Amino acid sequence: MKFFVDTADINEIKDLAETGLIDGVTTNPSLIAKSGKEFIPLISEICKIVEGPVSAEVAATDYETMVKEADKLRAIADNVAIKVPLTEDGLKVCKKLSDEGTRVNVTLCFSPGQALLAAKAGASFISPFIGRLDDISSDGMNLIADIITIYDNFPNFDTEVLVASVRSPMHIIESAKMGADVATCPAKVIKQLYKHPLTDSGLEAFCADWEKSGQKIL
Ligand code: E4P
Repeated sequence: MKFFVDTADINEIKDLAETGLIDGVTTNPSLIAKSGKEFIPLISEICKIVEGPVSAEVAATDYETMVKEADKLRAIADNVAIKVPLTEDGLKVCKKLSDEGTRVNVTLCFSPGQALLAAKAGASFISPFIGRLDDISSDGMNLIADIITIYDNFPNFDTEVLVASVRSPMHIIESAKMGADVATCPAKVIKQLYKHPLTDSGLEAFCADWEKSGQKIL
């Protein structure tokens, strides 16, 4: 399973990139606004830190302008993946860019039918937003299960399931159990995966016993 970090914060990206556990980055207009940085140079900087796909989202919603924006964004670096919304125009853009060899991440997916359309439009990634479904008392994980079932039925689909709007480590675990290809997560949620109180107490006891032994390795 690949891990993408869902942030436009350069320090978070650098910090996680050093762990060697990060396979890509996703951004969205809200995350870019939160960073307070200029979009194009920021994406360029991120693309130099992370070798894997870096999703940069178009801001327009009509076909012609989305295509123009996508042309500008994909010129930034080879590892830019263009993020388009799951709308009729968005999927037309997806088909065009995918046919031209550009990776496309179709975002704001909330139903299996939408995911089916994105795969048919040649998307490299489909981004189902599970946290936002949970927020409205709908089970986000069910959506992931449905999409995986559908995609598995059609081996000619080349679209990776990119679990988005991840809010907790359990979202990642459940997605991994289902065989989702990628999870894009806030840095904080990835860090939570390291944590277990028995690891902390076990390590504390080992360190104390080692100290008592009076030995040294170095
Ligand atoms: C995905 O690409 C989105 O950027 C993101 O996962 C949205 O998450 P949110 O629902 O926490 O804003």
